[in-house]
Amino acid sequence: MAEEPQSILTPLTDAAIFLTVCVDPGGEDEVLDLLPDLGGLRRSVGFRAPDAGLSCVVGIGASLWERLFDAPLPPELHPFRELRGPVHTAPSTPGDLFFHIRASRLDLCFELARLIIDRFDEGVRVVDEVHGFRSFDERDLLGFVDGTENPEGGDAEDAVVIAEDDDPTYAGGSYLLVQKYTHDLVAWNELSIEEQEAAMGRTKLDDVEFADEDKAPDSHLTLNVIEGPDGQRQIMRFNMPFGRVGSAEFGTFYIAYAKTAELIEEMLDNMFLGLGEATHDRILDFSTALTGSLYFVPGADFLDDPPAKGGAAEDAAPAEPDPPAAPPADGSLGIGGLR
Ligand code: HEM
Repeated sequence: MAEEPQSILTPLTDAAIFLTVCVDPGGEDEVLDLLPDLGGLRRSVGFRAPDAGLSCVVGIGASLWERLFDAPLPPELHPFRELRGPVHTAPSTPGDLFFHIRASRLDLCFELARLIIDRFDEGVRVVDEVHGFRSFDERDLLGFVDGTENPEGGDAEDAVVIAEDDDPTYAGGSYLLVQKYTHDLVAWNELSIEEQEAAMGRTKLDDVEFADEDKAPDSHLTLNVIEGPDGQRQIMRFNMPFGRVGSAEFGTFYIAYAKTAELIEEMLDNMFLGLGEATHDRILDFSTALTGSLYFVPGADFLDDPPAKGGAAEDAAPAEPDPPAAPPADGSLGIGGLR
């Protein structure tokens, strides 16, 4: 696998479209045809508005990876594992392909999403589409600045991109985990600002982190700051608000990249299954996870020339149907494996 990553580490934008796609048996060739053309489609739209920073990252789920590529499954790629905590659940929901489309203008994201989906027939279905927007100074709809502690520069690259030394086979790749949350803003806004700040572990207006001794055991930060031998272990988040005022939908699309899926999963375990005195992350009392899926983001060169399974292009209608995905040993729904 080549080393050049996809354009994961672009700065936060004003707009994004998050597309979750399922690929029915027989739709594989359409995906294989599209992947090398993605760069060209992005240029077709983005060249006309060079300042808008249009980018597109594509992630591939475990089941589709095995159906498409003559390449070993990335070691940490598997269907998202449902987490059933004592109070809250992180569901696992279908997703074979994921498109993270970003720009400073929604029209560009929309046009690129349209061109991508235009390439697919009925065997390839969009199962979730979220249009995210920047809210004031990068605040989520709970009112807190979201993204402050993302690593910067070389640290960001170290956190996200698999290096040649980590694993030469997957160098340039990354893991991508997404969850769509909606917030109960009525209940949240019944809390005092101090109670909200205790839930987050940071101040609301000026976005300053609490000292460790002042953080509640169930605060969002307590459960998501994970120390390793070389200091805090980092992931990169590009969360965006979304919603519909008419139906009182107020959401955060959570999207995180890391060079190891295990780190994002450990954070999720802490939030949903608890840690120490905390049974769960306090923000989950106001934020419900509606979806969850995990993808691998191969390097850019891999997409240009994907190692298609032998004869996949010719055998669009396979003689034998794929065997049903075995249920994951962890007892999760393994919905990411559904076709
Ligand atoms: C409802 C969904 C979520 C909301 C609204 C939310 C919001 C926030 C906010 C406001 C911060 C503080 C500022 C910052 O550094 O970004 C933060 C930090 C963080 N969040 Fe979340 N978050 C959500 C879900 C998650 C999930 C599911 C994870 C992990 C699986 C996660 C991991 C983190 C991490 C690692 C930090 C940085 C901690 C630090 O270094 O101080 N968040 N989040």
